[in-house]
Amino acid sequence: MEQEIKQEVTVMPRIGDKAPDFEAVTTKGVIRLSDYAKDKWIVFFSHPADFTPVCTTEMSGFAQRKSEFEALNAELLGLSIDSIHAHLAWVNNVKEKTGVYFDFPIIADIDMKVSKLYGMLQPNESETAAVRAVFFIDPKKTIRLIMYYPLNVGRNMDEILRVLEGLQVSDANGVALPLNWKKGDKVIVPPPKNLEEMQERIDGDYDEKIDFYLVKKTL
Ligand code: BEZ
Repeated sequence: MEQEIKQEVTVMPRIGDKAPDFEAVTTKGVIRLSDYAKDKWIVFFSHPADFTPVCTTEMSGFAQRKSEFEALNAELLGLSIDSIHAHLAWVNNVKEKTGVYFDFPIIADIDMKVSKLYGMLQPNESETAAVRAVFFIDPKKTIRLIMYYPLNVGRNMDEILRVLEGLQVSDANGVALPLNWKKGDKVIVPPPKNLEEMQERIDGDYDEKIDFYLVKKTL
């Protein structure tokens, strides 16, 4: 029999929205989003379930590359719809078996309050487990980028770090970033908004120019 697809309308946070505040129990004690330092980025991600294989590889990836997130002034925050006891046992088990320690808070969202608030619970994928979401929250607590992955495909840690750095480079320099941009690559001068800016793009000395609307420079 075909599975019935539910089409209920859910309000989900979107890019540009204020990140909804919450208080939650985590592996590092009770936290409130609004208590995060005002100068920090927050990389807030969900995983479907503790003691599952893909999730273990992903959480290990976050743990092993925590110093790279710190270098980008970002704090890691995990979540799943599991109890705090399951979280503690899983963190301890992975540490014992592999030496990797999940040294960042993981929310025990057993009542699904936070996962519903962030649209991490997508019932046609699973009614009981959060999908693999990543929210990039800037220091003003604005959501800047959202990733959603299904249960059966793990995320890419290089891409998570790439877009975090990309958002910061874009903010700091007022530029946009082309396909597959990585640190050190040329960046895109925003397209002109008036005739004067268009003429400036035409006459300006840039590293690469296809036409006035596609101009690149080196930072
Ligand atoms: C996993 O992490 O391996 C997994 C979790 C939930 C459903 C399917 C796979």
